[in-house]
Amino acid sequence: MTPPRDLPGPSAPTLDLGGRTALVTGAAGGIGRACALRLAAAGAKVRAVDRDDSGLTALADQSAGLAGTVEPHVLDLTDLDAAEQVAAGTDVLVNNAGLQLVRPLEEFPPDVFHTVLTVMLEAPFRLIRGALPHMYGQGWGRIVNISSVHGLRASPYKSAYVAAKHGLEGLSKTAALEGAPHGVTSNCVNPGYVRTPLVERQLADQARAHGIPQERVLAEVMLQDSAVKRLIEPEEVAEAVAYLCAPQASFVTGTSLVLDGGWTAH
Ligand SMILES: NC(=O)c1ccc[n+]([C@@H]2O[C@H](COP(=O)([O-])OP(=O)(O)OC[C@H]3O[C@@H](n4cnc5c(N)ncnc54)[C@H](O)[C@@H]3O)[C@@H](O)[C@H]2O)c1
Repeated sequence: MTPPRDLPGPSAPTLDLGGRTALVTGAAGGIGRACALRLAAAGAKVRAVDRDDSGLTALADQSAGLAGTVEPHVLDLTDLDAAEQVAAGTDVLVNNAGLQLVRPLEEFPPDVFHTVLTVMLEAPFRLIRGALPHMYGQGWGRIVNISSVHGLRASPYKSAYVAAKHGLEGLSKTAALEGAPHGVTSNCVNPGYVRTPLVERQLADQARAHGIPQERVLAEVMLQDSAVKRLIEPEEVAEAVAYLCAPQASFVTGTSLVLDGGWTAH
């Protein structure tokens, strides 16, 4: 294979997604919103998918003035056929939507386990399936799966989340192997705890599961294994996603870009 022809020179902007369509799931909040704005700032036409209608409207308002555009698509990703359809024709796919429940295994509601696996593993499979024909047809595509440290490590009381993220790592690697001959890369981005509503909602649950007051959860549970003692910001995660979409990252595939403040260095 020849080197990519779109490699920019040293003074060119790192990422130009002008003319590209990017789909971001879970775009109404947290990391997804930051990714949608970052990719729109690089010129992409962003399909912003979420079940949260008002969050998507706020995102579209926020994107005014950026080089690219944001098109809201209200969709519940448990509708897997609709998920596959909405991915058709995308050049960049960011599988980000997720949810969390912190509960010991013996109390974990089976229906929630099923929903977590559906939204965080089966929907990404269907979105990839929907996106690949166009990516393969043009010989270029970028799949970025927002995994987690919990795609590489387990924590107690997060059975569904850890199972889904470990599964997503496998799906991402398989997509990388199949996509390579077609110019399609697939990678995971693995943050530690990010300052988002998902983490804020978890504080009470974690306090109950670990039997400690809520104000001790951040330091004693969430940041215990992180060498850098702070939450990471959604914009820092979005920048990693942007890197993986850049021409300079075309050799980076089938791997996990870990942003965990040193957690997995232990
Ligand atoms: N916040 C963290 O600390 C952290 C750390 C590592 C990985 N992640 C991962 O990053 C991703 C985003 O997390 P976040 O912290 O930004 O969460 P968030 O709760 O702020 O945002 C998640 C978004 O997904 C959407 N969503 C959930 N279920 C959906 C469904 N069925 N259909 C459509 N949309 C749905 C929500 O409406 C929400 O807008 C998740 O995959 C999460 O596992 C988060």
